[in-house]
Amino acid sequence: MKIKGGKFLITGGASMIGAHITEQLLAADARKIVLLDNYSLGSPEGISDLVGNPRVKFVRGDILRVNELFDSLDGVDGVFAAAGFLTLPLTQNPGLGVAVNVQGMMNVFEACRYRGVKKVIFSSSIAVYGEPTVDLIDEATPWTWSKLQPGAALYAGSKIMGENLGKLYHDRHGVHSISLRYSSVYGERQHLRAVNSVYIVDTYDRLKRGERPMIPDDGLEVHDYIHVADVARANLMAMESDVSRESFNVATGTATTLNRLVEIVQEITGTNLKPEYKTPPGKIRAAVSTKLDFSIEKIERMIGWKPQISFEDGIRRMIKWRETERGNAV
Ligand SMILES: NC(=O)c1ccc[n+]([C@@H]2O[C@H](COP(=O)([O-])OP(=O)(O)OC[C@H]3O[C@@H](n4cnc5c(N)ncnc54)[C@H](O)[C@@H]3O)[C@@H](O)[C@H]2O)c1
Repeated sequence: MKIKGGKFLITGGASMIGAHITEQLLAADARKIVLLDNYSLGSPEGISDLVGNPRVKFVRGDILRVNELFDSLDGVDGVFAAAGFLTLPLTQNPGLGVAVNVQGMMNVFEACRYRGVKKVIFSSSIAVYGEPTVDLIDEATPWTWSKLQPGAALYAGSKIMGENLGKLYHDRHGVHSISLRYSSVYGERQHLRAVNSVYIVDTYDRLKRGERPMIPDDGLEVHDYIHVADVARANLMAMESDVSRESFNVATGTATTLNRLVEIVQEITGTNLKPEYKTPPGKIRAAVSTKLDFSIEKIERMIGWKPQISFEDGIRRMIKWRETERGNAV
């Protein structure tokens, strides 16, 4: 499917990732972009720079009300399904979180079938793997959830439901879909809902206040941080490709320790404060590991995507944004 001249709808249009997809759709000459969001987590301020564009239409709508999707999908070629509750908000409100992630995605696929939408790109997560024990995590790696905190396990399960609803709608109704399993997304428009990336904001804020950075445990915990612009580009490339019924890792393949993360933020902010090693009690955590290696061979082979933004550059961009008035208001 061509992006140029096409009409697209983004569920969770006020999301961090949805806003970046919108920017890239505009740059790629999409004809119309409908942002559907009920502002349960996102806010009008977060997308105020986008809704003024004549090619962008905001619809206040709820994916739990299927009729609101039916109405908004008029003439839409493709849907980017980004509405969802991350582990943190899902743990705080499990009833609504599970409903949005599962029943909401069911409604999205059903509305797409009914309105003849050709393709859905679903925002899934590497959380689906849980805490795998293999060295290299590719898309065939089995899910290992038994040791996860309940919120993280529910989140992982809800994303597996979304992915398989997509496969079912492909098989039964010919609605094409791709599931993109993002690692820890960070960057401009960063919110405070993502357990791993919020740590970057917290570290930066502490340094700005002149406080020592706080590192949980021994700082050897690792994450694969992927810049949000790379994630948005994966979404557009997945929509443009002829591939369907597949899941892909969208990661960098590089694991960064919290110790290294703090070092980078200190380098950029020109600080050199001695870290304090302390684990806040009762903290909600996603899977924690000291070794993480995601294969991105499949998405490069089938879609041609690979990440372009290094962690150092990405953090620099994120901090620059955080220093703007809008970034500061988050
Ligand atoms: N941020 C990450 O690190 C990350 C990692 C992996 C996967 N994901 C997935 O990517 C997607 C987008 O992530 P994000 O960080 O940009 O999310 P976000 O929290 O910024 O945005 C989610 C959006 O969905 C909206 N929403 C919630 N319920 C809704 C409903 N019933 N109807 C309409 N809109 C609704 C919220 O108001 C919010 O604007 C999510 O599905 C998330 O699970 C994110």
